[in-house]
Amino acid sequence: MIKISDKVLGSLKEAARQAAQNAYAPYSNFSVGAALLTEDDVIYVGCNVENASFGLTNCAERTALYSAVADGRGRGDFLALLLYTPSAALHSPCGACRQVLAEFLAAESLVYSTCDTDETLVWHMDELLPDLFEMPVADEV
Ligand code: THU
Repeated sequence: MIKISDKVLGSLKEAARQAAQNAYAPYSNFSVGAALLTEDDVIYVGCNVENASFGLTNCAERTALYSAVADGRGRGDFLALLLYTPSAALHSPCGACRQVLAEFLAAESLVYSTCDTDETLVWHMDELLPDLFEMPVADEV
């Protein structure tokens, strides 16, 4: 079972909060930050990056994950992802992000949602996306 200490959870929230300040969200005016924790305690952050062609928008969760992959991280390297929205309501990851996260996060990995209240939601990855679409990975078949 994955356990994240309150101290690390606080660091993840602060990292995601700072990342949300870098969001490029001129169309929705809805900033999102994400912080992704590796097994060796490194935190990768992401924010949403919108585009005038709306469908090309990249969510905060995917920005964080892609940044980690670009830095050499891979499947199974992650313990948790925390999502932060500067609002009074908690939000859960969109469907596209669930599929992308599930490619890299193990079923028991933790996904947290936080906002500007003290409330936190937490799920296991496989609760967010049960029965996901998968393909055999070449070096795992
Ligand atoms: N957004 C995220 O960054 N993550 C999600 O899980 C859902 C939505 C962003 C995309 C867009 O820039 C804004 O929030 C409004 O949908």
